[in-house]
Amino acid sequence: MSAAFDDWMKTVQAGSENDLSAFLPPATAIPTKLHAAMRYALLGGGKRVRPLLVYAAGALFGADAAILARAAAAVEMIHAYSLVHDDMPCMDDDELRRGKPTVHVAYDEATALLVGDALQSQAFLVLAEAAADANPVPLARLVAMLRLLAHASGSAGMCGGQAIDLDSVGISLTLEQLEQMHQLKTGALLRASVVLGALAGKQLEQDELDALNVYARAIGLAFQVVDDVLDATADSATLGKTAGKDAADNKPTYVSILGLEPSRALAEKLRLDAHAALAPFGDKALRLRELADLIVQRKA
Ligand code: IPE
Ligand code: IPE
Ligand code: MG
Ligand code: MG
Ligand code: MG
Repeated sequence: MSAAFDDWMKTVQAGSENDLSAFLPPATAIPTKLHAAMRYALLGGGKRVRPLLVYAAGALFGADAAILARAAAAVEMIHAYSLVHDDMPCMDDDELRRGKPTVHVAYDEATALLVGDALQSQAFLVLAEAAADANPVPLARLVAMLRLLAHASGSAGMCGGQAIDLDSVGISLTLEQLEQMHQLKTGALLRASVVLGALAGKQLEQDELDALNVYARAIGLAFQVVDDVLDATADSATLGKTAGKDAADNKPTYVSILGLEPSRALAEKLRLDAHAALAPFGDKALRLRELADLIVQRKA
């Protein structure tokens, strides 16, 4: 990854941190415990891969900064909510997230449940309020963006994948079933990030949407394949979350079903597939290409 990519990444991450803070109620607003816990869950941690994808895809068609900021914040809020719930005792029962105690540990279970609920609502509020911005995207396009995010978050997307994940503990999935689970629980929001960023720029032609979807499916799957590999190979301090949890919990993962080396090879193949899908966009897709590299080559 180039120094220019590194600079760009740090700029987007810092900008997203400011935007996320500004798009949340202050911790002093009533109910203060809930607002403090929402800020605890969302701010000061995380790689911000979804905002990075929104901005990189936005660069394809020269999207406006204001709508990109809203789309990036919205998808990161849904992601953060999914992590808060994923860590709860009724799901993965994890105590460490982003290098800090999980929300139900730092606060309590009921607060963690409400943090997730409220972050989800806030995500749609932040995006919908783009209608009142100066020079907003046309309303039909904004509705398409809201619809896309809702679809990717719900039972046909992230929540659906989480349901399959929980139902699969201790059973062996076929590769096809495993891919479907990963494409939903993790891929859906990553795909949404790419298409949201592009839609922020223009109404997409079918061939543009098709190419972006091929890219997004490849990196969406690669992201969770690498997450499974890191769970089995990295340590908790590096990950900021408990390592070795998948095997301990008997979760079907790429590592448990395919093995470590074939999983790494699959991630590398998906990286190349992602690059190939971007060919029609030429140089404008540089950041998307580099993000595919980051997703596959990351160490945390
Ligand atoms: C972790 O996501 C959960 C998965 C979807 C695999 P990230 O690895 O993007 O977590 P943060 O946002 O950087 O903490
Ligand atoms: C979580 O998958 C995916 C979502 C939160 C939607 P994991 O359970 O593998 O994520 P980590 O490893 O706890 O971050
Ligand atoms: Mg999980
Ligand atoms: Mg988990
Ligand atoms: Mg994991």
